[in-house]
Amino acid sequence: MSENQLPTAWSPRPRRRDVLAAGAAASLAAGSMVHTSRAAAEESRELRLGVVGCGGRGTGAINDSLTINSGVKLVAVADLYESKCAGLVKAMSKAHPDKVAVEESAMHAGLDGVKRVLDDPRVDVVLLTTSPGFRPSTINAAVAAGKHVFAEKPVCVDPAGYRTCIAAHDAAVANQTAIVTGTQYRRQVNYRGAIEQIRAGAIGDIVSVTTRYCSGGIWYRPRKEGMSDAEYQLNNWMHFIWLSGDQITEQAVHNIDTVNWIMGANPTSAYGSGGRFTRPSDSEMWDSVSVDYEYPGNRLVSFMCRQIPGSAGENSTTVYGTKGICHIGAMSSGSRIVNPTGVTTWEMAGSIADAYKQEHKDLIDSIRKGQPIVELKQTADSSMVAVLGRVAAYTGQRVSWDFLTRDSKLDLFPRDLSWTGTLPPPQFAIPGKTKLV
Ligand SMILES: NC(=O)c1ccc[n+]([C@@H]2O[C@H](COP(=O)([O-])OP(=O)(O)OC[C@H]3O[C@@H](n4cnc5c(N)ncnc54)[C@H](O)[C@@H]3O)[C@@H](O)[C@H]2O)c1
Repeated sequence: MSENQLPTAWSPRPRRRDVLAAGAAASLAAGSMVHTSRAAAEESRELRLGVVGCGGRGTGAINDSLTINSGVKLVAVADLYESKCAGLVKAMSKAHPDKVAVEESAMHAGLDGVKRVLDDPRVDVVLLTTSPGFRPSTINAAVAAGKHVFAEKPVCVDPAGYRTCIAAHDAAVANQTAIVTGTQYRRQVNYRGAIEQIRAGAIGDIVSVTTRYCSGGIWYRPRKEGMSDAEYQLNNWMHFIWLSGDQITEQAVHNIDTVNWIMGANPTSAYGSGGRFTRPSDSEMWDSVSVDYEYPGNRLVSFMCRQIPGSAGENSTTVYGTKGICHIGAMSSGSRIVNPTGVTTWEMAGSIADAYKQEHKDLIDSIRKGQPIVELKQTADSSMVAVLGRVAAYTGQRVSWDFLTRDSKLDLFPRDLSWTGTLPPPQFAIPGKTKLV
């Protein structure tokens, strides 16, 4: 299929009845012996992989999986663009010649490519690495199709997507479909070590946490001549909130996920602020967002994210306890604990590159053992905590977790999305004017 013959539409977010139907089908299957035999069969045979979203992370994720796992093969790919499909297959064929067997008929370009990967009976595991806006519907469709899933973070950008993920999580547990997510720090040794120390009481009781994801600018992909609204926004996805969720969701979800892990809970409410000063004129993204999250037990989390060129970068999480402070540096910068007199009492190094691979090893191992990991709810919660902070900052209101997860009607995905279609112009949040819905 050529790039200008692109698509038929991918149906947007599944309606509630489709989600429930997937869950019901999964529950029925859960009551049968199907799972035992599925697990036994998967223990010994080759597992075949498909990738949906052949950009930077799709290429990185499949490379990690093919590098760390034996007995796996890439057999199908999908992307909006044929050239992206071909580019990923070419790169992986060179890097892992024995682990790639993608025929031309298994390279699917267009918005409905995901459906064709999920319909392919050879595919056992699908890596979902498109822009975030598609994640809830594609995870849900993958679970309904009985495919094991690797889903990049964030897994949702609004409350409607969150609810889809929660239903898909339950369906996956019922039909023993593995879902591992791209929150790689959960598998990074110095993060795990720090949290073990905190759990063991090394810093006493947690009083508060400060977490910051502050960096320079981020990419912007200008509109090319002939692009429809849809193609432009899908390509320049970072700058449209229905696709990225803004930087707090797209990028800083890593820090929020770490905080949720430390706290062992979701926050009860958020109050935030921020704004946009340096973004291109049609970018909906804010340059910075600061949020105070209240967690159960009167514990406060001070969160900040910023993407402003020339500003000082910082990416770390600091946990203040009654007996010391634990500092967890992002990427590969290690963790350490300092006592009240300033002496380092514990430290540990860790590699993010190892963590990126470990998530794919854990996924494949769990399928082979017949004990599939299903961690979607955990990452849906973290993604939703990011959404909570964004909504609090955009509206200028204090927003509760219960309101946003249970009552909010916010659903950003366009009702009718087609490759050549028009989309509403960019919307710019203004605190005090942007409504809490
Ligand atoms: N875990 C991490 O540290 C990490 C790092 C980078 C990116 N990510 C995440 O990975 C995801 C992808 O980011 P990226 O940097 O690879 O972006 P990218 O723009 O490089 O790649 C996204 C690809 O998906 C394709 N695509 C978009 N919508 C599609 C659809 N409906 N069907 C099929 N293909 C579609 C695009 O054409 C593009 O090639 C994002 O969710 C991002 O947050 C995670």
